[in-house]
Amino acid sequence: MPDITLTTLQKLKQNGEKITMLTCYDATFAHACCEAGVEVLLIGDSLGMVLQGHDSTLPVTNAEMAYHTASVKRGNQGALILADLPFMAYSTPEQTMANAGQLMQAGAHMVKLEGAAWVAESIRLLSERGVPVCVHMGLTPQSVNVFGGYKVQGRQEGQARQMRADAVALEQAGAAMLLLECVPSELAAEITQAVSIPVIGIGAGSATDGQVLVLHDMLGLALSGRTPKFVKNFMAGQPDIVSALRAYVKAVKEASFPGIEHGFSA
Ligand code: KIV
Repeated sequence: MPDITLTTLQKLKQNGEKITMLTCYDATFAHACCEAGVEVLLIGDSLGMVLQGHDSTLPVTNAEMAYHTASVKRGNQGALILADLPFMAYSTPEQTMANAGQLMQAGAHMVKLEGAAWVAESIRLLSERGVPVCVHMGLTPQSVNVFGGYKVQGRQEGQARQMRADAVALEQAGAAMLLLECVPSELAAEITQAVSIPVIGIGAGSATDGQVLVLHDMLGLALSGRTPKFVKNFMAGQPDIVSALRAYVKAVKEASFPGIEHGFSA
């Protein structure tokens, strides 16, 4: 696989070719994902739940994110590496720059932070200093205690209007990518049309520019045994893990995943 850069992802969006992303936390899986053609490896703070067994992503530290980012970098073969800034790692400008710097020095090509209009200043600070930023909107798991659970966001018209406006404002602030989690498929389609940066969805329907899933979920290894509606088990019927990863890449590229049953209505 040739090295994937932000320019590659922009071109994929412009050409209407879907972008493939999976979470990844170590060198062996990074290697396997690259073998299968996954274009973006996300070191998600979901590792707090998936690897560490916590009931939320809140306990994850920036040092832990840097450790896993460095591990993924060692196994990577050309994918773009995206690393999450964890809970409370970007609450002041100084913290934001120091923590993003640590992830970039560990091997990330881009960092992701969760929020809405209020993260515009952090995005501007980072992008002006050479750190590309992906902004995660919709169901932002670091705010689970504000939402009162893992709930679909943007179902009310006012909320949807605000999300559309925030997406445009955050692109203007310098965001290079947008990730939408658990938002109605129609709203995700509108936002994808409204911005020129690539939009990746999880539980956001099939109209986004690309898709992401948590690696362990799509391999049928969800810890709680409760699989979210937007997950498909790609291990089913496959002889080995690389074949399952290839099946995911193929399904996203040909837009057979996600199906209508994996999305949410308003
Ligand atoms: O942390 C993570 O794995 C994520 C995905 C759910 C998109 O942000």
